[in-house]
Amino acid sequence: MNNTETLESQLLSERIKTVPRSFIRDILKVANAPGITSFAGGLPNKEYFPVEAIKKCTQKVLSKNGSHALQYSNTEGLLELRKAIADQYQKDGLNISEDRILITSGSQQALDLIGKIFINKGDTVLIEKPSYLGAIQAMSMYQPNFQAITLEEDGLNINLFREAVLNQKPKLTYVIPNFQNPTGISYSEEKRKQIASLAIINNLLIVEDDPYGAIRFNGKKHKNIFHYAPENTILLGSFSKTIAPGFRIGWIVAPKDEIFEKLVIAKQASDLHTDIFSQRVIATYLNDYNTKEHINIICKAYGQQAHAMINAIEKYFPFGTKCTRPEGGMFCWVSMPKGFSSLQLFEAAIKEKVAVVPGAPFYINEADSNDFRLNFSCSSPEEIVTGITVLAKCIQQLT
Ligand SMILES: Cc1ncc(COP(=O)(O)O)c(C=O)c1O
Repeated sequence: MNNTETLESQLLSERIKTVPRSFIRDILKVANAPGITSFAGGLPNKEYFPVEAIKKCTQKVLSKNGSHALQYSNTEGLLELRKAIADQYQKDGLNISEDRILITSGSQQALDLIGKIFINKGDTVLIEKPSYLGAIQAMSMYQPNFQAITLEEDGLNINLFREAVLNQKPKLTYVIPNFQNPTGISYSEEKRKQIASLAIINNLLIVEDDPYGAIRFNGKKHKNIFHYAPENTILLGSFSKTIAPGFRIGWIVAPKDEIFEKLVIAKQASDLHTDIFSQRVIATYLNDYNTKEHINIICKAYGQQAHAMINAIEKYFPFGTKCTRPEGGMFCWVSMPKGFSSLQLFEAAIKEKVAVVPGAPFYINEADSNDFRLNFSCSSPEEIVTGITVLAKCIQQLT
């Protein structure tokens, strides 16, 4: 062994050496300390987890199925749950059958499985700029060549996207068209159609990640990209934001049988199947309770919190600040004039007991940026106004 090399660095795969550590998990260690007002997390508000209903569903699953509820199960997932998901899509006008739905351990696992079956080292993957950190991390395992396409207030910059499609021959394009993480923006209907048609013409695969679509508190619902390009779109969903993330239940809608089969093989190799007990509890919950009513309660609360945050930003942040106006989801994105350091803001704000996520980790290879993410789902409107005034003071001192 070379003196300068540790045993670990000799043993570790090239793959793991290149994957970034989750900067947000590190930040959360600081941000979750007692007394901190945290706009840094990405958690749904636990006040709205349906604890009593889940208690009843858990008992029902055990009394109905006995020890069978705890046995190994099939990789594709519980048929009853897959049917319930397909039914919801049918109601929304999407022609999706349960045969193409694979239950995953959160949509995070879906991202890993997609990487596993599609990405060879060096393959080009187009992502939004900025993009969801967890997707960058999951796909980094397969060592792609990420190309980030500027995100505008109504979706990807279509000219840059077209150029990248034609010149770089990407394997995949990863997008979050509803209430994007980190920016909170949503794609216009026009851009969804344009992306779909470029995918069809150029034989491109779109990964449409949609964990927030149901959490809409304003505005008009748009169609999924899947609707416009069903053979070219892999659609991801999750119960993390509508029921509870601890169950780790998400899903993939595969556009073709062949893709579905490969995903099943990849999942078998990963974990055999997703926790079947959780699948049964969720399926029982969907059958026995009015989920629409429950989601409406979440949307109403998040809408008020978002409103409080945006109003306070408009009132207290300095001239030149730009902020997105999400119509759903859990985040807004603040951009300061060029030259501003959101890393410095993070450090200054944490001393005043307020946490934000600086923008850099949402970009590929950027050390700092003038923008940052704010989460509104876990703080009351009053906490939000107080926290934003503290941030405004920190910003003033930095500028
Ligand atoms: C855009 C996006 N995709 C996927 C996930 C992972 O969600 P899940 O809990 O379903 O694994 C998240 C989590 O915050 C997310 O924001």
